[in-house]
Amino acid sequence: MERLEVTETFAGIALPGHLHTAESLQFATSFPFRDTDVVIVTYPKSGTTWMQEILTLLYSRGDAQPAKTIPNWERAPWLEQIHFRSSLRDTATNRLITSHLPARVLGPRLQGSKAKVIYVARNPKDVVVSYYHFHLLAKFLPDPISFDAFLQQFLEGKVHYGSWFEHVKGWLGQRQLLDIIYVTYEELHQDLRGAAQRLSAFLGITLEPQTLLALEQHCSFAAMRDNAMANYTLIPREIMDHSRGRFMRRGVVGDWRCHFSAAQNALFDRVYHKEMCDNELSAHWAM
Ligand code: A3P
Repeated sequence: MERLEVTETFAGIALPGHLHTAESLQFATSFPFRDTDVVIVTYPKSGTTWMQEILTLLYSRGDAQPAKTIPNWERAPWLEQIHFRSSLRDTATNRLITSHLPARVLGPRLQGSKAKVIYVARNPKDVVVSYYHFHLLAKFLPDPISFDAFLQQFLEGKVHYGSWFEHVKGWLGQRQLLDIIYVTYEELHQDLRGAAQRLSAFLGITLEPQTLLALEQHCSFAAMRDNAMANYTLIPREIMDHSRGRFMRRGVVGDWRCHFSAAQNALFDRVYHKEMCDNELSAHWAM
């Protein structure tokens, strides 16, 4: 497959040059956040799109119309990507903004405001599997070569968007500095209602029963897989080769078990324990 790949290096991290430039990154790191902004932060493949959809439904009070008519990248634009500046300038209150940037880059900027931050994390074994598959179709990412090669690069923090470990540890370290809530992909799976209630309390939104019903319906994997405004099928083939897989791929917890060999799992656990020690998320994922 022919790739668009041009890498933009920023703060020691490789980023897809198709989506980022020195100027767009400068824009992101000097962005004047408003106190009313709500910022979704994730490492790639951790549930970003899912959270964008959940927040859309919470703010629309269960009206599915915005989610069905406006692409998710317009509803919750990416702070650091070149294409979304105009969307970020709008004057609506409670702007939803999305970012994959690490805490050491974005944290200081956010600390100057009372913006609310929602950090979504996912079991990194499932992240690496999802990310590998995404590399097969996203032409703006490098050729992953093989799952084994990609896994090695992931553990070394040499993939695009940098180290998962640094990302998660960095954002967990912002707990005392920001108005931030931590949500896991697994929690969304296990108890979407409970997560929606926790999020509405954090955001100060009154959650009516009909909003919750609409949210559950609209944010299910099946509904989002079939929603062109959320499933990335609107992205042209020159950028994503849809014949090589779907963005909304499997949407399950524990898919890594179908991909990891025993040796890969042992290596992963070794690196994980070295990097994360007794981090609170370790218990959550029982690693
Ligand atoms: P898989 O590749 O494991 O299927 P991101 O939006 O951060 O890029 O994450 C994409 C991952 O989230 C994909 O994982 C995708 O299928 C999954 N996902 C998106 N919406 C989901 C939903 N409603 N339910 C479960 N998984 C979802």
